[in-house]
Amino acid sequence: MTLRKDEFARRRKQLMRMMGKGGIAILPAATEKQRNSDVHYHYRPDSDFHYLTGFDEPESVAVLVPGRAQAEYILFVRDRDPARETWDGKRAGPEGAVRDHGADDAFPIGDIDDILPGLMEQCSRVYYTMGLHPEFDLHVIAWVNSLRARAKQGVHTPQEFVALDHLLHDMRLYKSRSEIAVMRRAAQIAVGAHLRAMKATRPGVHEYEVMAELLHEFHRHRADISYHPIVGGGANACTLHYHANDAELQDGDLLLIDAGCEYEYYASDITRTFPVGGRFSPEQKAVYEVVLEAQEAAFGCIRPGNHWNDPHDAAVRAITQGLVRLGLLSGRVPTLVKDEAYKKFFMHRTGHWLGMDVHDVGDYKVGEEWRVLEPGMCLTVEPGIYIPAGTKGVPRRWWNIGVRIEDDVAVTADGHELLTAGLPRTPAEVERAMVA
Ligand code: GLY
Ligand code: MN
Ligand code: MN
Repeated sequence: MTLRKDEFARRRKQLMRMMGKGGIAILPAATEKQRNSDVHYHYRPDSDFHYLTGFDEPESVAVLVPGRAQAEYILFVRDRDPARETWDGKRAGPEGAVRDHGADDAFPIGDIDDILPGLMEQCSRVYYTMGLHPEFDLHVIAWVNSLRARAKQGVHTPQEFVALDHLLHDMRLYKSRSEIAVMRRAAQIAVGAHLRAMKATRPGVHEYEVMAELLHEFHRHRADISYHPIVGGGANACTLHYHANDAELQDGDLLLIDAGCEYEYYASDITRTFPVGGRFSPEQKAVYEVVLEAQEAAFGCIRPGNHWNDPHDAAVRAITQGLVRLGLLSGRVPTLVKDEAYKKFFMHRTGHWLGMDVHDVGDYKVGEEWRVLEPGMCLTVEPGIYIPAGTKGVPRRWWNIGVRIEDDVAVTADGHELLTAGLPRTPAEVERAMVA
């Protein structure tokens, strides 16, 4: 399962249509990041760069000049270097960038200072994301200044700078059929990993051993993590971004796992919460069922025409109602919602955009209005209730219960598709999966 071959060219065409003649887009690849000593992190291209080029070598710069007769899409890339390639592997080089990666023309990255000002000179608008790569910003400024310095000789300088990320991020928010197929695959690999984690969990096992099951399942499908997994038993389930994952799991506790993978540059993001010993206690089950009701209520609002915040509002209402039913909040539901009393137990939002980045790009509001949901948008639905030990006004039997249920959906023409389908969600399904 990979993206359609023509997807990158289609995106470049769409962006160039939006830019129009007279524009030039400049997009540098992310730099390599050092981990420690002379060890680097595994290189992961910036999502915007990959989205537009599909070219995954560092030290590259993509340039688009719509309407330019000689070449509209130009790549600056590392030159071939047999000595370096012996150590680091093959490079495309300028020839490979044209032959295999769709560039109309390509040059060694070392020549960019000589070539790029000349391309900019012919344009009136520069599309560039300022501030993301500060060192590269300095190059852009230097190129503009080199043109200004020659103004008396009749050299022309672009008059306008436009934020490139704004255009790209709006494009990225709408996923094509091909992208959704890849996201479905990323979701299904993570579904398999969560199932595997459920089966591996029992008292005495450590959180990191369960994490190892997740990682094994991701990697055997050529996927990687889309963020560091959260594997939190008991009290750790109440720490929202717990990441130590080093405790021994105890009978009677819940285990909260928030883990997703990145497959072909697309992320999944799933949370399941289940009992370490295989059976929910009455209190654990009661809290779980409230979270499940909230998730169902949120799902019920995900269709074209509704607003971004509708699922969150529905989840907040359901959680507040449930907390009142359990005696953990008291008062009138509308008042408690208005006063945000639920935030004592549910302090995050019900979801976020999902795509190449786990917290994906795209505006949540347009002007003052929450964004209207449209087909192709992908999001998570992840209500939760967290009751750490010592929570004021809450009897001890509820302490250390932390529950989140998180699934991924794509908005369709008439509703939504559950990308994470097939993973147990109800208490009965979860308990059955643990023994199966
Ligand atoms: N795993 C990060 C999140 O759920 O948003
Ligand atoms: Mn998550
Ligand atoms: Mn999430």
